[in-house]
Amino acid sequence: MELNQIYAPIVDDLSKIEDSIKKVGQVDFKWLAQLLEQSLGVGGKRIRPALTLLSGHFFNYRLEYLIHMATAIELMHTATLVHDDAIDKSFTRRGKETIYKVWGTEAAILLGDYLFAKAGVEVSDTQNVRAIRLFSQTLMTISRGELNQAKNSYILNQTREDYIQRIYGKTASLFCLSTESGGILSEAPEGAIQTLRQYGNDLGLAFQIVDDILDFIGTEKELGKPAGSDLTQGTFTLPAMLLNERYPQDNPIKRLFLDRSKKENIQQAIEQIRNSNIVEECYRIAGEYRDSACRALKELPTDPAAEALKNLADFVVTRRN
Ligand code: IPE
Ligand code: IPE
Ligand code: MG
Ligand code: MG
Repeated sequence: MELNQIYAPIVDDLSKIEDSIKKVGQVDFKWLAQLLEQSLGVGGKRIRPALTLLSGHFFNYRLEYLIHMATAIELMHTATLVHDDAIDKSFTRRGKETIYKVWGTEAAILLGDYLFAKAGVEVSDTQNVRAIRLFSQTLMTISRGELNQAKNSYILNQTREDYIQRIYGKTASLFCLSTESGGILSEAPEGAIQTLRQYGNDLGLAFQIVDDILDFIGTEKELGKPAGSDLTQGTFTLPAMLLNERYPQDNPIKRLFLDRSKKENIQQAIEQIRNSNIVEECYRIAGEYRDSACRALKELPTDPAAEALKNLADFVVTRRN
């Protein structure tokens, strides 16, 4: 199913978030307006703001607050991408040139900071201290996850548990914020808030596992961002871990991590992973998290949003971008 079909129950409200994002770009400093348009303009899938609206749909749907929250989350997400592209030295994102490519590291750092700060203003407009606190804690968790990834680059001695913990930090924590805050702002009972958080957590883990698979099997054209960049950064993701587990004596990942200069190992690793059932195995693991996310949904009241969240979980594990 396509995203626009999945988003059907919230399509009008999602367009209000689009308007609110557009407003963020309306500043009287021309260069800043240009940077904001380049980073925030259409191209993103808007999964996180959709999650907030859908999660807010089960109880007291208070649109005004949900829009501030969802906007804050998309701004924070975009800020992490702007910074991530500078860290990874990536030239494309959302099918366009990155801020880093066009304007350099300094602009990427400062624009990312601007977006984080603006996200803080938006979230404070929810007037909900619990949501504001969760928002800040999530940014700490993401930064910690990214630092953990940087610290562990080119290190072979990492377990699948380490991997899951890291992708929780860098990605699933933001999915948790998206769903949990929807519950909080719609005055859901505590049990339902925790159920929504659990759904977000498992969906986020599935999402990042698939992102890590696509980095091996996708093309830049499909992804709108470079493929193969994780190994270039020495990031040890699930497909690479499985290859290393299968050939513990010798394999291209091991060789690459020992001698970073030997770039031919990257190509060999990609080929070996593509020509094995490792991709299938990674999809199976992502599918388990998808299933777990969907099981959580059964505990929520009957609502069209539940069907949308189920379809979104299916989308996440079949997506090509
Ligand atoms: C990209 O997220 C960053 C990751 C967590 C892998 P998305 O794939 O949701 O990015 P956009 O917003 O659609 O561009
Ligand atoms: C990025 O993960 C997660 C954050 C930005 C915090 P990736 O490095 O896998 O994202 P892409 O693949 O560049 O979108
Ligand atoms: Mg990246
Ligand atoms: Mg990636």
